[in-house]
Amino acid sequence: MKAVFERPLRNYVLGLLLLTITVGVLLWRADADIYMLIPVIAIQLIVLIIILLHMSERYIKPLDKTIETVDRLVKGDFRARIHQPASGQMSDLNDKINSLARNLSQLSIHEQMQKEQLATIVDNVEIGLVLIDEKGYIHYVNRKFTDTFGKQTKAYHGHLYYDVINNEKIHTLVQETFLYESNIKSQFVIRKDLLKEVFLEIVGVPIFNERTQLRGAVLVLYDISELKKLEVMRKDFVANVSHELKTPMTSIKGFAETLLDGAMDDPEALQEFLKIIYDESNRLQFLIDDLLTLSRLENDGFKISAEKVKLAALVQEIEPLIRHKAEKKEIRLTVEVEEEAEAVFDRERIKQVMINLLDNAINYTPEGGDVKLRVQVDSELIMQVEDTGIGIEEEAIPRLFERFYRVDKARSRNTGGTGLGLAIVKHIVELHKGNIKLHSVPGEGSVFTINIPGKR
Ligand SMILES: Nc1ncnc2c1ncn2[C@@H]1O[C@H](COP(=O)(O)OP(=O)(O)OP(=O)(O)O)[C@@H](O)[C@H]1O
Ligand SMILES: [Mg+2]
Repeated sequence: MKAVFERPLRNYVLGLLLLTITVGVLLWRADADIYMLIPVIAIQLIVLIIILLHMSERYIKPLDKTIETVDRLVKGDFRARIHQPASGQMSDLNDKINSLARNLSQLSIHEQMQKEQLATIVDNVEIGLVLIDEKGYIHYVNRKFTDTFGKQTKAYHGHLYYDVINNEKIHTLVQETFLYESNIKSQFVIRKDLLKEVFLEIVGVPIFNERTQLRGAVLVLYDISELKKLEVMRKDFVANVSHELKTPMTSIKGFAETLLDGAMDDPEALQEFLKIIYDESNRLQFLIDDLLTLSRLENDGFKISAEKVKLAALVQEIEPLIRHKAEKKEIRLTVEVEEEAEAVFDRERIKQVMINLLDNAINYTPEGGDVKLRVQVDSELIMQVEDTGIGIEEEAIPRLFERFYRVDKARSRNTGGTGLGLAIVKHIVELHKGNIKLHSVPGEGSVFTINIPGKR
């Protein structure tokens, strides 16, 4: 600030001194008396006042404005700028302060943006996060955490974790993280409502400062419900397979034992029991074949072998078998397929889809009913199997394509079904990137429609 004043002040003082000396010399030369001095002093005073006013206008006021702007900048208002015109070094100073303010403003916008980006990421990750200080106060919880545990963010911030998080497992985990000063893992279940359970894995991660003193902990929560579901499905699958294998095995063993115990001497019983053993072993074979097909289809490396197929020829191959089955139940079978229709797909797999759907249509349609197969090719291959059978309740539809699922267990078993047919259909359609639609009315019938895109 000193430099701003030094030069002009020196000039003013020198000017005033020069003026006083000149007037003094003039008066001394003119031998003037004391009364002559009064107007001279008055003039000097006026000049002095003018000089001071000028100085105030030119330097003090702009300086005040500059100080006020710097004050606003210090308080964090980086939009503050100096617009007051100034000259010389004052103008230089103002320019520099304005440019400093611009830089600070850009830095603060940048920092704000980074903060917002980080907050958006942390708030939107599918992982629950909690930050706790070394005294146990919560400093931060993200949205996933509040979604899982309820309550608003402000119900957690600034509170002790054991006062606001109502979960013993989390309390123990925090204590162990602080005690052992290392990552601690744990798993637990929370019940969201009567039906929904959420399986969580939680990891407590201690935080240290640069002097390796414990400063708090971050809790990371993963929703592992899907993994658990898969685990349950795998266990169910093993249980189902064992059960399905056990039933025919028990039957085969039982009848074989009865025969060995003497029943084989009775030719009628022998015939009957051997027939049962034969049927049951057939059932075992179907089950094992289906399981093998499914496991092959589910194999990650499985690739369909697509080729151009004439649909009429393909339908002709399966028709006699299906027609024979339909006739046994007095079911009218209608087949509609365009003579020249062709499409690209895995011949054997799509054949299997048709057989499985037609087999179901006949199995679940009472005697005297109708079953229709319609095949057409537009931009894609469309297969439709329609029946006038028992139909499927709406609640059962979402589970229909699961392995071993049967709407009516006893009835399906009687038809020799394993409950794998539609699971195989679903896999084949998915491998062809197609989709399945089902329209069904209980008591009236069902229509399964499959679309397979032409280009892959
Ligand atoms: N057209 C249909 N009409 C009525 N119910 C059906 C029909 N198709 C399938 N279902 C129901 O869906 C269940 C599953 O069918 P899916 O073909 O997977 O098994 P399944 O026929 O019992 O045995 P399989 O493995 O021998 O085919 C059946 O048990 C049956 O309850
Ligand atoms: Mg079936």
